[in-house]
Amino acid sequence: MRPDGIVIAIDGPAGVGKSTVGRLVAGRLGYSSISTGKMYRALAWKALENGISLEDDESLVKLAGSLKWGFPKGPGPEAGVSLDGRGLDLELSEERVSKASSGIAKLAGVRLFMCGMQRAAGISGGVVMEGRDIGTNVFPDAELKVYLDASPEARARRREGQLKEQGLEADYARILDFIIKRDAQDSGRKINPLKKAEDAHYLDSTALPCEKVVDAIVDLFKRSPAGRRSAV
Ligand code: DC
Repeated sequence: MRPDGIVIAIDGPAGVGKSTVGRLVAGRLGYSSISTGKMYRALAWKALENGISLEDDESLVKLAGSLKWGFPKGPGPEAGVSLDGRGLDLELSEERVSKASSGIAKLAGVRLFMCGMQRAAGISGGVVMEGRDIGTNVFPDAELKVYLDASPEARARRREGQLKEQGLEADYARILDFIIKRDAQDSGRKINPLKKAEDAHYLDSTALPCEKVVDAIVDLFKRSPAGRRSAV
């Protein structure tokens, strides 16, 4: 038993809504939520700012180790990321940062560093952690695992909608192409690729609104031994 509750691992491809779902599930259970993609994004952003090669694993690990990482609570239960006291938000959504984060996520040293930080952040439980390898690698012993999927087209449409809502430019074909390439890179890498853990529950959200996905995960929690013990 972990002192603060269980670890809920949510993995899945880019743009499937893991962060939103994770944040909402955490809110319903009184848990915190951690988006591990933000950690890769933060390091990628810093490397771009400092002109460090995105192929140079050793320098990236050195950079990661030299930074003061913070996971401040946002307005909701989601933990954001700060580096050396600077909160990072919009800069992490830049396309160049998305591309760079997927690139550095292939590197063994970077992954080891991130995995260590993620384990430390979730070890006492009471957390919904989302990413690509949470159920397979970071917390293979997570008490509840979900693999959230949706077709690339549905994910591209959603992303297009989000960008337009923010008043930003959005080109569906370009977004779809970007999503397909990132899927291939995240699933095709040698170390800790995006993959459903054998014991993960598979949820296809292509035709499901976000609230239904959240309900489904909260239901899985309620039916789990930890959920039966809790008052949720
Ligand atoms: O979830 P995201 O799109 O914010 O993640 C950005 C990149 O980070 C993603 O392309 C792959 C990488 N990533 C990873 O390799 N492992 C994780 N647990 C989370 C993210």
